[in-house]
Amino acid sequence: MLPSMTDDDLRMLRQDFWDDRYGSSPQIWSGNPNPHLVDRVARLAPGRAVDVGSGEGADALWLAERGWRVTAIDVSPVALRKGAERAAAVGAEVAERITWTRADVLEWGPDAGAFDLVSAQFMHLPPEPRAALFTRLAAGVAPGGTLLIVGHHPVDLAPEGYRHLHHMRFTAEEVAGLLDPEAWEVVLADAPARTVERPDGVVTMHDARLEARRRA
Ligand SMILES: C[S@@+](CC[C@H](N)C(=O)[O-])C[C@H]1O[C@@H](n2cnc3c(N)ncnc32)[C@H](O)[C@@H]1O
Repeated sequence: MLPSMTDDDLRMLRQDFWDDRYGSSPQIWSGNPNPHLVDRVARLAPGRAVDVGSGEGADALWLAERGWRVTAIDVSPVALRKGAERAAAVGAEVAERITWTRADVLEWGPDAGAFDLVSAQFMHLPPEPRAALFTRLAAGVAPGGTLLIVGHHPVDLAPEGYRHLHHMRFTAEEVAGLLDPEAWEVVLADAPARTVERPDGVVTMHDARLEARRRA
């Protein structure tokens, strides 16, 4: 175990935890692509993308529909299978643009410069492995390419039952601090608010958004 990880942390990053979650209902997420991905990537010319922690594949599918060649990475084969089934239902042309890959982000990293877009949406880890992963992800961005990292911002209290997740939240500034300013232009580092309807009422949440472009 990494010294910075508790048993509880590790449990939430393991295949059996996520296979159980994804196996517990036909769909656990909305099925829509993440709005920050749509907002930031719609203007980019398609190329090679990796979606890290791809879940049920809504982001990978949205990218492939726009002509991106996508590698979807997740620890859960159950989630990857759902994504692949959904892509197949959309059509062969889109489905063949996506490679569904089971990998553990505690160890996995892209080859240097392999992708024009590296996206990680709500991929939460404790601080030490988070910094290590995001550094590896940055190394995977090709010259002129984009790093887009979005996650829960620590300004919000985690919902009841998920309080131990608080240390897995991060700011865009923290991620930007991992990047060499000589090699990177930080395009966006903010934390827009959004409202979410929960059974106990409407709550305001903030998403940390880091978009950076590797200088060509
Ligand atoms: C909060 S979900 C986000 C899913 C998707 N990106 C989205 O925004 O809807 C986190 C995802 O990370 C994946 N994950 C968790 N631990 C992982 C690990 N160690 N390696 C790879 N993926 C992991 C989970 O299976 C899950 O799909």
